[in-house]
Amino acid sequence: MDFELKSLSAAQAAQLPVDALLVLVPDTTATTRSADQTLTRLVAQAVAHQDLDSGVAKLLSCYRPEGFKASRVTLVRLGDGSPASVRKAVTAGMGALKQPGVQTLGLVFSLTDAGDDTVRAAMQACADASYCYTTTKPSAKARSVKRVVIGVTRAADVERGFAVGKAQVVGVEFAKEWANRPANHATPTLLGEAARKLGRHSGFKTDVLGPKQVEALGMGSFLSVARGSVEPLRFIVMHYNGGAKGSAPVVLVGKGITFDTGGISIKPAAEMDEMKFDMGGAASVLGTFAALAELRPAINVVGLIPSCENMPDGQAVKPGDVVTSMSGQTIEILNTDAEGRLILCDALTYAARFKPRSVVDIATLTGACVIALGGVRSGLFSPRDDLAQALASAGEKSLDLCWRMPLDDEYAEGLKSNFADMGNVAGRAGGAITAAKFLQKFATELPWAHLDIAGTAWKGGAAKGSTGRPVPLLLQYLLDQVEVAPVKPAGRKPAKA
Ligand code: BES
Ligand code: MN
Ligand code: ZN
Repeated sequence: MDFELKSLSAAQAAQLPVDALLVLVPDTTATTRSADQTLTRLVAQAVAHQDLDSGVAKLLSCYRPEGFKASRVTLVRLGDGSPASVRKAVTAGMGALKQPGVQTLGLVFSLTDAGDDTVRAAMQACADASYCYTTTKPSAKARSVKRVVIGVTRAADVERGFAVGKAQVVGVEFAKEWANRPANHATPTLLGEAARKLGRHSGFKTDVLGPKQVEALGMGSFLSVARGSVEPLRFIVMHYNGGAKGSAPVVLVGKGITFDTGGISIKPAAEMDEMKFDMGGAASVLGTFAALAELRPAINVVGLIPSCENMPDGQAVKPGDVVTSMSGQTIEILNTDAEGRLILCDALTYAARFKPRSVVDIATLTGACVIALGGVRSGLFSPRDDLAQALASAGEKSLDLCWRMPLDDEYAEGLKSNFADMGNVAGRAGGAITAAKFLQKFATELPWAHLDIAGTAWKGGAAKGSTGRPVPLLLQYLLDQVEVAPVKPAGRKPAKA
């Protein structure tokens, strides 16, 4: 999808040679602005005749209205004009313009004030509403909208928002593509190749480690999950170096279970297909790197993706087995379906070598998080207030919300084991938190945060598909770090949480 930013007055918008115009109409100013131009007249008349109610996402679609170049003109109410209301309005408007004949679209902000965040929200809504997965369904109609002109009163005012929006859309779509691919089209090997290709095209370094190298690193926990599958595991390491040499990187760690059957602790059959989305964390890291490659911010970022299948098999790890993690801590695997934490814990240990400014893991980790927060907000866990605050506000700004959850030590009680340093599960109560407490045992020396995206990474039902979340949140967090410039001296122990 190509985006273009243009300075357009209301009068010029009517002359835009596109298939359709989507005009954002603010609730308050529609009747007061001068109504002597084609567009303002149309809006004023529609409002006067009560054909366009106020209230976010109220619509009026017109066909071949007089004086317009575009044959379809849809007016949509903006509500309070916040980025969230712009997203709602554009989503509704795009729904009304879903015709194969609409290949070029003008998204007109000329009647309202556009800001960086509203432009970005509009672009993402536009892309989301027209997205179509086709890789294994060639008969599906690919998105018909090819080009979108964003028309604002003064383009110079929102150039930054436009650039971030473009990169964010690229990142979200990259994440959606890989998360949506069925597990037989998105194996650990294929994910590794996708990361390599992305690195080659964008000029960043990518290392893809296989079982032998992972064994040499001592990642006994990660290895144990991969044992049941004939697909070889991959450990993907990506380096985006936009910042000063030696500047401490942010490390992003994405859970890359390309299919989660549960292993020997096998899952019920219903909806098991959705466990192809269990690499949503990995997809969001890949997508964020795709966005970084577009935007080239001055920051260093390392992406780590432990990836494998979780399968039952004669070779598979069994409940009660004890494995030794890279950290040296032993783990009694009481439930082979709590596998995400088993691959992430070794990746967190590995992350320490980069002496990171922060480490954020992203994982479709627990069904309990879906129960706690549903599909609206991701679960955010961190013992560090500064880091939690930075991630939470990045989520608000990018409309990719999360909510901070507690990490009291009492939640770790249930992880005690008679046969190892810890068990990998702790009963049903507070399952999202006990999973985070498990991970925390591998991040004691790190400025660490964990995002549980089990409820937000994909949608089920008729709209089944990846959301590309939390790429917007991660990208915003990274961009915010560019401004935070001063880098803490490497290797210093963080204050005790
Ligand atoms: N990938 C699942 C988490 C999941 C389940 C995400 C359903 C979205 C929807 C994870 O590996 C898992 O199976 N977790 C278990 C943990 C339990 C065994 C402690 C869960 O949530 O049931
Ligand atoms: Mn599982
Ligand atoms: Zn899983």
